[in-house]
Amino acid sequence: PQYTVIVPAAGIGQRMLADRPKQYLTIAGKTILEHTLENLYAHPQIKHVIVVLNAKDDYFASLPLASKSWITRVDGGNERADSVLAGLDSMNNEKWVLVHDAARPCLDHDDLSKLLLVAQRSAYGAILACRVRDTMKRANDLQEITHTESRDNLWHALTPQFFPLVQLRDALHKAARSQVKITDEASAIEWAQGTVHLVEGRGSNIKVTQPEDLQLAEFYLQHKAA
Ligand code: CTP
Ligand code: MG
Repeated sequence: PQYTVIVPAAGIGQRMLADRPKQYLTIAGKTILEHTLENLYAHPQIKHVIVVLNAKDDYFASLPLASKSWITRVDGGNERADSVLAGLDSMNNEKWVLVHDAARPCLDHDDLSKLLLVAQRSAYGAILACRVRDTMKRANDLQEITHTESRDNLWHALTPQFFPLVQLRDALHKAARSQVKITDEASAIEWAQGTVHLVEGRGSNIKVTQPEDLQLAEFYLQHKAA
């Protein structure tokens, strides 16, 4: 089977401190957004990409892939969850949907394949994730340690995240109506009492967030297995 992936790319990249949204910065010869979109479409189980952009975005139109027939452009919203909902509302008649951050250009195809395989055997879907490595501290507002959290069963949530379309759309709409703060798709499903599976993925699937991440992403892109 082949799937559609929604790529939220309507953020401003505040933490990157650059002169444009981070998805339009160039690494290894192309913008981060081009790396992300082309890498997704190169996977045999991806047939269509919905890229969610700021309504006033005038960078995307100048990219060589802007007119590709496998890409649909949709206007995003103020929060990431609003952007994902805009993408979901533009879809119909599909059972499952993937959501993947524009800012994660280094996703490995084997990890994506594994996610697709595991999630389809589950009722509510699954996400890529990786285990926490450092010792985890809980602190108070004065940055004083109050507690050392056990690392057992503690994971970083990555993307892609893969869910039945109707379930994800309903959960995100309900969370929006209840003004629950949702930072990834899984949290909407969790909030709606669904059980989301974790699929262990590579730590190289970083979300390019701060200036130093650019060099790291470039390294991973250049050293990717063929
Ligand atoms: N995103 C989006 N719509 C928003 C906010 C974020 O589509 N209203 C997208 C971003 O473009 C990014 C992904 O969601 O691809 C993950 O968000 P994040 O890494 O936080 O990106 P930004 O919000 O752009 O960065 P920052 O938080 O530093 O401003
Ligand atoms: Mg953000």
